[in-house]
Amino acid sequence: MTGLAGVGIAGGSILKGCASEPDTNKKSGLDQLSKQLEKSHVQRFNMSGYAAPRLDTVGVGIIGLGNRGPNHMMNASRIAGVKINALCDMQPEKAESAKKMLAGTDHNPEIYTGNEEVWKKLCEREDIDFVIVTTPWYMHAEMAVYAMDHGKHAATEVVLAATLEECWQVVETAERTRKHCMMLGNTCYGKFSMVMLNMARQGFFGDIVHGDCGYIANKMKNNFSKDMYWDMWWLKQYGNRKGNIYPIHGFGWVAQMMDINRGDKLDFLISVESKDFGMGGRAKELAATDDFYKPFADKDFRGNINTSVIKTSKGRTIIVQHDATTFRPPTNTQGIYGTKGSVLGYPPPARISKGEDGWISPEEYKALEEKYTPNIVKKMDELAKVSGSDVGGDLLMMWRLIDCLRNGLPLDQDVYDGVSWSSILPLSEWSVNNRSYPIDIPDFTVGAWETNKRNQDLTIAEGGNTKMKKMV
Ligand SMILES: NC(=O)c1ccc[n+]([C@@H]2O[C@H](COP(=O)([O-])OP(=O)(O)OC[C@H]3O[C@@H](n4cnc5c(N)ncnc54)[C@H](O)[C@@H]3O)[C@@H](O)[C@H]2O)c1
Repeated sequence: MTGLAGVGIAGGSILKGCASEPDTNKKSGLDQLSKQLEKSHVQRFNMSGYAAPRLDTVGVGIIGLGNRGPNHMMNASRIAGVKINALCDMQPEKAESAKKMLAGTDHNPEIYTGNEEVWKKLCEREDIDFVIVTTPWYMHAEMAVYAMDHGKHAATEVVLAATLEECWQVVETAERTRKHCMMLGNTCYGKFSMVMLNMARQGFFGDIVHGDCGYIANKMKNNFSKDMYWDMWWLKQYGNRKGNIYPIHGFGWVAQMMDINRGDKLDFLISVESKDFGMGGRAKELAATDDFYKPFADKDFRGNINTSVIKTSKGRTIIVQHDATTFRPPTNTQGIYGTKGSVLGYPPPARISKGEDGWISPEEYKALEEKYTPNIVKKMDELAKVSGSDVGGDLLMMWRLIDCLRNGLPLDQDVYDGVSWSSILPLSEWSVNNRSYPIDIPDFTVGAWETNKRNQDLTIAEGGNTKMKKMV
């Protein structure tokens, strides 16, 4: 791939004039480059609240059919008004096995496979309106930009962009082409997330002061497996990067609870990382008896636990963590603390507090959950009945996305959400590499955050008419 990813960042020269800290502490000039990129961006069009012309049938193409892609493919295949016209994976067996999963449905996609540039052909097809990108995350921005430049709406898995240059390029392309670019922040579509967002919007928690979130799940087995991920890409990322390389789960929800990009914005972060107590040792151990692991034996692996602290422009704070190596049960932290109440989603069961006396009883929690269940969650149950299966967050997200495209409605998460949430990855990496020095988080809305209106309509006041098909 020719790639936007890996765009080099000039070192020393860009740092000249950075008086507040000696150059020796700065491994790259990302902080300066970031300011230059922000200054040079002129907002052509505000994509917040943007509604594209409605589409009766949404022609879908999917790039990347490893672990994640087929899940989105099957979900999309069950939604009325979707036509899956093309599938792409550079590994023929992945593309073909995905296509086989569609047997018995009314989808008969053409396959693109065999080389790492063939995805462009999928983006160039006339019968594709919407490209879903589920390749490794450092490829997402290039693929989304190309799709938008070829007249398609795009959605990518998490993260949307892996460098600040990519973040700005995605924004520039979306504004210029007026194509949607959504990052598939699926945690926002869980029942817990949506009920709590509804409560927050109705003032239950008062002023939100702080949010806790993180993706904490031991992935040692997966990351060292030879066949879990294409080309050991996750292990390569852990071996070549620092910082929070998987920031979105939980974070997107906290950002929505705090109205980030619509009334508040991310201001700056600091990021601290433990040293690596696990991956390097495992790589050496495996390399001693298996040459396959030799390239990983001398890597300076990302530390076990990354903790980033963010301050928002309206004075709120967020802690976001990533840990894929210590031994503990998966904990996708979701916590919100406000002036009138708090909620903690993990570890289960979810708990709410309304005062100084600890958590409310499970019965009271249930009553609040019922009272504040928004229409969009009720819709999830309705859809489940029609389709004959459970409708979880992933399916609800896909249904809602397609319903918005078919009704010409703004999407729940826009391009500014996608890039501001994703920017935690390169910014935390910079901070870790610079003794946890603070770094500004760019304002991708260029000031529009002060007046942008809320999206993610929990009431589904408009739309909602897209049907689900019965499970095959
Ligand atoms: N939101 C979630 O809950 C969730 C869960 C799992 C994965 N993900 C994300 O989904 C993405 C994919 O993860 P995965 O576990 O499926 O990885 P994977 O390695 O299983 O699949 C990636 C696929 O991309 C294909 N690919 C690589 N380069 C390509 C190219 N140039 N052209 C076409 N295809 C190419 C590979 O052949 C592979 O099949 C990642 O960004 C990951 O972060 C998100």
